[in-house]
Formats: sequence, structure tokens, C-alpha cells
Amino acid sequence: MKRILVFGATSAIARACCRRWLEVAAQEGPDSVHFHLVARAPEPLEQTASDLRARGAGSVTTQCADLADPAGHLALVQAALRDLGEIDRVLIAHGTLPDQAACERDPDLALREFAVNGTSVIALLLHLANVMTDQGRGTIAVITSVAGDRGRPSNYVYGSAKAAVSTCCEGLRARLFRAGVHLIDIRPGFVDTPMTAGLALPRALVATPEQVARRIVQGIERQRNVLYVPPFWALILWVIRVLPRPLFKRLSL
Ligand SMILES: NC(=O)c1ccc[n+]([C@@H]2O[C@H](COP(=O)([O-])OP(=O)(O)OC[C@H]3O[C@@H](n4cnc5c(N)ncnc54)[C@H](OP(=O)(O)O)[C@@H]3O)[C@@H](O)[C@H]2O)c1
Repeated sequence: MKRILVFGATSAIARACCRRWLEVAAQEGPDSVHFHLVARAPEPLEQTASDLRARGAGSVTTQCADLADPAGHLALVQAALRDLGEIDRVLIAHGTLPDQAACERDPDLALREFAVNGTSVIALLLHLANVMTDQGRGTIAVITSVAGDRGRPSNYVYGSAKAAVSTCCEGLRARLFRAGVHLIDIRPGFVDTPMTAGLALPRALVATPEQVARRIVQGIERQRNVLYVPPFWALILWVIRVLPRPLFKRLSL
């Protein structure tokens, strides 16, 4: 039996991960997988839940919430725990890709974007850490981004929020390790989802949600610590990280 809690459950990557969990459980029976889904928009949330039920999930319960508001997080986690009994896996997937130029014109917008991608995720992580510590088991998976590895002029608002989450994960992983709980920081590169629709991205570097979901579910089950998806992004980001600052600041990355 696997009990999975998903935040941002209507995200294309999260939906592909949920379907992948059901495929992986095919031998045991997909009805051994139970989901509790949290997302903002009711209609896509219900569609996602229906799809997972149709694919054989044991049970699917849902909650609607704007995750930008951390005041509601504890109640969300507690309700999920009531529905699932125990939590084996958590996937945190909600996020937005800010318009960097608009954020530069309007710092309040930048802070709102930072809140969705950064502080809301950190608040959720801290609530979940307490619940999972009481259980003494389970895995928390957070989708951050390769954008958090180094601030680039084209997206440093998004990148700094993701970097804050990754830094939080690094410390929290060590805290949770002592409690028997695992935490994985998932850093995708370009993925073809509604978030990137309309962006001019180099086709060769763009993965499908299904491709990254296979890697993500495998990485979660293998208890990886940090996962670049697809893996070639680890090399690309290594090169970007080692570029000397006098050169880096002259590049339009
Ligand atoms: N696509 C990429 O290239 C890429 C690369 C690196 C990392 N990522 C990360 O991967 C994760 C999943 O993104 P995706 O690519 O699957 O994009 P997506 O399909 O656009 O999903 C984003 C999800 O976040 C939800 N969300 C945004 N703000 C929210 C809020 N305040 N409260 C609740 N839910 C909220 C959206 O819900 P609504 O439908 O209600 O807006 C949507 O379900 C994100 O964390 C993203 O930053 C994506």
C-alpha cells in the first residue's frame, strides 16, 4: 500500500507522476495506491482525481486551496493525514514562472512570485516535516528547478525562490534523516507543460512530463537526495556554476 499526498496536483508534472506511480504499482495492483490531492482550481482537480480513479487508484480524496497563503497549510496537512491515515510520499509541485521584466518593474509582484515559489513551499515543508517526524518514516519530494543553481539575469526572481527552497531542503534533509524520513530535491530543466507554453525553448533540451515523471518516481523510490531531470542538466548546471563571475555577468543567460 502507498499513500501519496500531492500539492499542486493539477500541474502537468504532478499528474504525470501520479499516473506513473499507478503504472509502477501495476503488479501489486493500482488499488494499492491512495492519493490525497491538493490544488487551487476545482475543475482540473476533479478531472485529475477522476483520471486516477479510472486508472484504478485505491482511493482519491481532494482539497482546494490557494497554496500562496501559508495560514491554511497546517489544516491542509492535518486533513490529508486524516484521509490517508499515514503519509508514505509527499510531492510538492505547485509553482509559477514569473514574467521577469514585469517583476523588475513591480517589486511587489516579485515578492508575490517569490512567496508562491519560495516561502509557501518552505512553510509547507516545515509543517510536513513535523508530521513525518512523528510518523518516523516516509519521503517528501519537492520540485525546485535548475534555475535555483545560479541566479541568471533572465529569471533571477524565480531562481532565487527555488534556491531558497533547495537550501532549506539541504538542511531539512539532515534533520529528517535522524527521524527516518527522506527528502528529495527534484530539479527539472525545460519541460513541455502549460508553464512553458509559448516560450521559445531549444527543442532538443525540452522533455515531456511523462519522461521526467519516470525519472522523478524512480528517484523518489530510490531515495535520491538531489535529482536533475533529465540527468544531462547536472552537467549543464555544473558548467554554469563554475563560470567565473567576471565572465558570467557579461553573458545574457
Ligand atoms: N515546466 C518546466 O520547464 C519546469 C522546469 C523546472 C521546474 N518546474 C517546476 O515544476 C513544478 C510543476 O510545474 P509544471 O511545469 O507542471 O507547470 P504547470 O502545469 O503550469 O503547473 C503549475 C501548477 O502550480 C499550481 N499553482 C500555481 N500557483 C498556485 C497557488 N498559489 N496555489 C496552488 N496551486 C498553484 C497551478 O495551479 P493553477 O492551475 O490553479 O494555476 C498548476 O497546477 C513547478 O514547481 C515548476 O516551478 C517546471
